[in-house]
Amino acid sequence: MDQPITTIEGLAQDGRLTPLQQAWVENDAMQCAYCTPGFIMSATVLLRTNPNPTAQEVAQFLQGNVCRCGMHSRIIAAVQRAAALGKGRP
Ligand code: FES
Repeated sequence: MDQPITTIEGLAQDGRLTPLQQAWVENDAMQCAYCTPGFIMSATVLLRTNPNPTAQEVAQFLQGNVCRCGMHSRIIAAVQRAAALGKGRP
């Protein structure tokens, strides 16, 4: 049975970033951005299942994603910013 797959390119609609993507930009949560698509897709799933995660919950959920540029604290802040706005869901 075919199942739909959403990639990072499928999140933004009509050229408009999702609130989570916008929070990523506003929090400077990327340097080289190699890890960004994976983190944003994982964080999107997190916010769909837990719209108000603690920093510890965000870190635990995203532990399978690695940022070699060391942006983890900003990444967690971006996820929590999107959650705080109640706009974490794309
Ligand atoms: S921003 Fe470079 S690996 Fe994460």
